[in-house]
Amino acid sequence: MPLNISIILSSVREKSQGIKAAKYLSEKCSERKFNVTIIDPKEYNLPLLDKMFKEYPKGTAPEGLEKLHEILTSSDGYIIVTGEYNHSLPPALTNLMDHFREEYFFKPAAITSYSGGPIMGMRSAVQARVFLGELGMVTPRMILGIPGIHKAFDSEGKPADDVINSKVKKFLDEFEWYANALKEARSKSMPG
Ligand SMILES: Cc1cc2nc3c(=O)[nH]c(=O)nc-3n(C[C@H](O)[C@H](O)[C@H](O)COP(=O)(O)O)c2cc1C
Repeated sequence: MPLNISIILSSVREKSQGIKAAKYLSEKCSERKFNVTIIDPKEYNLPLLDKMFKEYPKGTAPEGLEKLHEILTSSDGYIIVTGEYNHSLPPALTNLMDHFREEYFFKPAAITSYSGGPIMGMRSAVQARVFLGELGMVTPRMILGIPGIHKAFDSEGKPADDVINSKVKKFLDEFEWYANALKEARSKSMPG
C-alpha cells in the first residue's frame, strides 16, 4: 500500500508563497508513489479555535473540520511547509493543527521552512519541532530550509538553483523511512 501523505501549508495570505514549495514537494512525493493531499488553510477558512474536532458531538462538526479529520486520520505522515512570522510559527498553521490531536499520534512530520530572506524560516522551523512533538508526532532530523522564497522557484515550479534539489532527496529519504517504520509499528500495537 502506498503511503498517504499530507502537506500542510501555514499561511492564508492572498499572496502566500508557500504553495510553490508545497507543489514542488508534492511532485517529489508523487515520484515516490505516495498519495499526496495538500492542505491549504485558505481553503478551510477556519475560525480561531473554539472547540477541537473531538469536542463536537458526532456528525455536528463543521464540514471543513470533518474533511480535515478524515485526511489527517488517513495520513501516514505529514510535511509541514511553514513560513516565519516574527520569528515564530504563522497562526494559520497552529490554529488549523490545534483543532486535532489523536489524528497525529505516532506519525512523522517533516519540516520545510521558508522565508523572504536568507534565514530560510529556521526560527519557525525550530519552534515547529517543539510544537509537532507536543501534538504526538516525531520529526526527522533534516529540515528543508528554503531562502528567498519569492525567487526560489521558476514559473514552471522548478527550483531556481540546484541547492533545493540536492537537499530534497535526503529530506524525503528520512521522512519515508520514518513513515514506513511507524506505519508498521502502529499496525502491531499502540501505547495506551
Ligand atoms: C506578519 C509577518 C511577519 C514576518 N516575519 C518574518 C520573520 O520573522 N523572519 C523572516 O525571515 N521573514 C518574515 N516575514 C517575511 C516572510 O518570510 C515572507 O513574507 C513570506 O513570504 C511569508 O510567508 P507567506 O508568503 O506564506 O505568508 C514576515 C512576513 C509577515 C507577513
